[in-house]
Amino acid sequence: MNMQKRTIVALPGDGIGRVVLDETIRVLDRAGFVASYVEGDIGWEFWKSEGNPLPDRTIQLLETHKIGLFGAITSKPKDAASRELDPGLKEKGLIYSSPIVGLRQHFNLDICIRPCRTYKGNPLNFIRRGADGAIEEPEIDVVIFRQNTEGLYGGVEWTNPPEIVYKGLASHPRFVKNFGNVPVEELSISTRIFTRSATGRILRAAFEHARKQGYKSVTVCEKPNVIRETSGMMYKMAQEIQASEYPGIELWNTNIDAQMMWLTKNPEIYGVIVAGNMFGDIVSDGFAGLIGGLGFACSANLGEDIAVFEPTHGSAPKYADYPESIINPIAMMESACMMLDHINEAETAGRIRSSIAKVVLEGKVRTYDMMKMTGRADVIQKGAASTRQMADAIIENL
Ligand code: IPM
Ligand code: MN
Repeated sequence: MNMQKRTIVALPGDGIGRVVLDETIRVLDRAGFVASYVEGDIGWEFWKSEGNPLPDRTIQLLETHKIGLFGAITSKPKDAASRELDPGLKEKGLIYSSPIVGLRQHFNLDICIRPCRTYKGNPLNFIRRGADGAIEEPEIDVVIFRQNTEGLYGGVEWTNPPEIVYKGLASHPRFVKNFGNVPVEELSISTRIFTRSATGRILRAAFEHARKQGYKSVTVCEKPNVIRETSGMMYKMAQEIQASEYPGIELWNTNIDAQMMWLTKNPEIYGVIVAGNMFGDIVSDGFAGLIGGLGFACSANLGEDIAVFEPTHGSAPKYADYPESIINPIAMMESACMMLDHINEAETAGRIRSSIAKVVLEGKVRTYDMMKMTGRADVIQKGAASTRQMADAIIENL
């Protein structure tokens, strides 16, 4: 074990973010991970009171300590967000934007890794019928590499674009043909910008992971047949990188739509999947659904020297005020395990993962999602484990 005491920036965020983070830190402590935690302010509360869901002091903390463990945040469309602002801030023309997207972009956390692996015995595992009609439960082991900073999330968008933008667009023959008759104030435009450098980085990260972890294929999941420039560039670069640097790994190419259909037919054949920001978001939820849903889906956001680890689920505000939390904390705990791997604490990560696997396999302690209940405060009376009881079970099995 590493003897130097680390400081981790704990970012609970909104809603159920705090409880899953607190329970995860309890598991980390009990697993023998030595660290201190400083809390960073982020989320809705700070939007309402300060007009900034990602205050500078939080940026500072991450700059200092480099590693963040993030719970969840609430994102609302910009008009709804403006209505909830503190009255004193309302006239200032502040515009809400998601602080997790802000964090990814501010620190250039451009590599997002989202593993989706089957836990044996999870009642939520995807099942299908085989050729003979018998039920099959394919074992899934997929890791999605999502480009995390650009594409449709790049934030370059307009409604009623300024004249200079309109003129630029009008220099494209397709624009003239398809939109030339539309009045400018009726246009809404969101750009999808890919750069060679970020595209190369996510592709190389995906290939490198495949090589190190022994996956036989990397699948580029985009739509190059229609979105020729951005998806097309990504696939072409993948072909070049594969041929020159990773000839031992197969390169597959799927379209996002077809991929969403195939993932319920033959999810077990995929290994590493790499995609741009939006399609990576979509395909990672798709695979998460096959391994138990968002209660099991973890992720890492990696930059050059700063990394933030977070469950893929949201803040579930409607469950946040229950006297006893019912939320499945496994996604948060798995995200913490990704953090441990990242900081050379793989042995501790391995022990926590084995313990989670054991609890899931035994099936004695299950949160409401694992019991296929609808989330309500009374699920605990009906036999579902609370967040805390799940954490206790994992601690007992460490
Ligand atoms: C995710 C989430 C976020 C995203 C939202 C909350 C902005 O869906 O991390 O997948 O779209 O990236
Ligand atoms: Mn998502």
